[in-house]
Amino acid sequence: MKNEKLNISILDFGAIGDERGLITICEGEQDIPFLPKRVFYIYKSASGVVRGKHANRFTDFVLINVSGSSKVKIMDGRGNELVYALNRPNTGIYIPHMVWKEMYDFSDDSVLLCLASEHYDPQEYIRDYDEFLAEVEKSDVLTTSIKK
Ligand code: TYD
Repeated sequence: MKNEKLNISILDFGAIGDERGLITICEGEQDIPFLPKRVFYIYKSASGVVRGKHANRFTDFVLINVSGSSKVKIMDGRGNELVYALNRPNTGIYIPHMVWKEMYDFSDDSVLLCLASEHYDPQEYIRDYDEFLAEVEKSDVLTTSIKK
């Protein structure tokens, strides 16, 4: 399932089950659009906490609540936004670079697995929303002038 305006995709990884339990497989460049260079996970966040609150200039992400649930809000800085409830270990959301994201409503048992297309570089994080809006506007102006 793809949201055209935001370039967000909901990914269904499926599951293989037998009497031993379930396994979900996520292959880089196959089940997700990139080869992950970095994996991290967010857990023991209180329900009232809001994490993220940033955009990345270059890094794409896939977020999977492998345990419990949380919500992620995505904004493109052009008036398009979406809230997605992450609550299944076999479903992920693909979030491209240059969108603002906020994660919140964490359940007590939430483990939010994040797959990233790039290594960590604090310089490519935009942590100020107004700065994000300004960069989106700048890139739109540039794209418009190139098209002309
Ligand atoms: P932060 O980006 O604020 O986490 P979130 O966006 O999930 O709320 O990161 C929290 C701390 O962890 C901050 O000091 C930076 C550090 N960090 C790394 O060193 N490497 C990483 O890959 C990530 C995601 C964070």
